[in-house]
Amino acid sequence: MKIAVLNGSPKGKYSITLQSVKYLQKYHPAVEFEIFDIGQRIKQIEKDLPFFDSIVEGVRGSDLILWCYPVYTFLVPYQLLKFISLIFERKAEANFAGKYTSQLLTSKHFYDHTAHNYICNISEDLGMKHIVGHCADMDDLQKPEGRKRLLQFGEELLWTVRENRPLPRKYSPRETPTPRYAPPEKLPLVSPVGESEVVPYDVVLVTDCTDSDSNLGRMIAVFKAALVNPLRVVNLNDFQFDGGCLGCFHCAVAGNCVYQDGFDEFHRTQIRSADCVIFAASINHHWFNPVWKCYDDRQFYNGHRISSMGKAVGYIISGSLQNEANLREVLEARSEMARTYLTGIVTDEVASNTVTTLLLQDLAVSTLRAIATKASRPVNFLGAGGMRIFRDLIYVMRGLMREDHRFYQKHGLYDDFPQRQWKRTLQMIFLGSFLRQKLIGRKASANFKEVLLKRYEKIIRKN
Ligand SMILES: Cc1cc2nc3c(=O)[nH]c(=O)nc-3n(C[C@H](O)[C@H](O)[C@H](O)COP(=O)(O)O)c2cc1C
Repeated sequence: MKIAVLNGSPKGKYSITLQSVKYLQKYHPAVEFEIFDIGQRIKQIEKDLPFFDSIVEGVRGSDLILWCYPVYTFLVPYQLLKFISLIFERKAEANFAGKYTSQLLTSKHFYDHTAHNYICNISEDLGMKHIVGHCADMDDLQKPEGRKRLLQFGEELLWTVRENRPLPRKYSPRETPTPRYAPPEKLPLVSPVGESEVVPYDVVLVTDCTDSDSNLGRMIAVFKAALVNPLRVVNLNDFQFDGGCLGCFHCAVAGNCVYQDGFDEFHRTQIRSADCVIFAASINHHWFNPVWKCYDDRQFYNGHRISSMGKAVGYIISGSLQNEANLREVLEARSEMARTYLTGIVTDEVASNTVTTLLLQDLAVSTLRAIATKASRPVNFLGAGGMRIFRDLIYVMRGLMREDHRFYQKHGLYDDFPQRQWKRTLQMIFLGSFLRQKLIGRKASANFKEVLLKRYEKIIRKN
């Protein structure tokens, strides 16, 4: 049996994830593992067609394709996403079709499921049979339980291929095209929101749109016309990225990125500084064009610090987001994690031009309103859960991630550690032992609900 390993880590042979493959290799000497360093050699893969073809040839000659990668900002690293886009662009899908595939990923479990969903979706688009992947913690290989689970995963892969097991499909086939969006010649008048009319808010629209005569281009134009404030437009294609994040952690140690292309400065001064950011992009293979992933990953220079807290964000999207639950979850989770106020997501999937136009105009108005009123919402699970992972991680790694640690201290992001809530813990110990005493318990449980409400009633009376 032959397994083609598509190593998406930009660290190549120094990848932590790859060590799990090496472990499997040791336990299955009869299986041939061919490792392709996709992440590290993406520039060559882009430029050198025969090199790309040799990888595709390796895939064609294998029984199983193993996507092996670290989770990078909710998804796969930019380099692997770029490779995936090349498979479609160069029409190499047939080489993947019909093969068994699975994925081995490492992370700190922060949105590893969205990365897993994405690769599963891509695999199925390529016509492959996807076996549920192995979402390991980056330290799992160091633990006996982790090694045991990894070996079980390996056994399952080999068994599935040997037995030619049938596998269910998780996602509906391919992306649905959206109708042409053509705004009316005469746009409906927009009623502006009071004071925001005159306040010079800085609203920036970040896009990769190059064609003003596309759905996305026309949507941007309608949004711009509806905004009473001037709109700054930043096109990601105008920024010369030297490359995707290398995962070297130089930024965590030294405080700056190894690349000298000025991305930190560009991001800080052109995007982070704005009162509101509107992202305008087209859906492409369950994500956006690769430049967006490069942009996302390179923001790692800022560690886990939340740079846009309290700001407003919105999205203008060309593509059928209704069929992209995973992508939508990531967009919402990003806002939740960044503590930004998501004013809205407008797409071109509604068949009515009038509705889309009205939604775009509403996005402009509600964006200004959100800035003017400093709108905020409580975070839901996507933000509260994610933040607990970050909090624990940074606390443990505070010796290395010193800037992050200072930021978390300053903004009270450690304050919800359970062990710090000693007053509440004590209260619960007393309450529990009180209620457990049968006689008192019987009486107390009758008015337990009333007792619990006392504190809330006091707040309502006093505020
Ligand atoms: C740019 C960047 C983004 C990351 N994003 C995430 C993330 O979203 N979720 C997570 O749990 N870990 C994240 N990590 C941590 C890596 O997934 C983790 O360190 C991984 O084990 C590295 O594997 P590798 O050595 O194979 O590259 C990120 C690391 C980097 C450098």
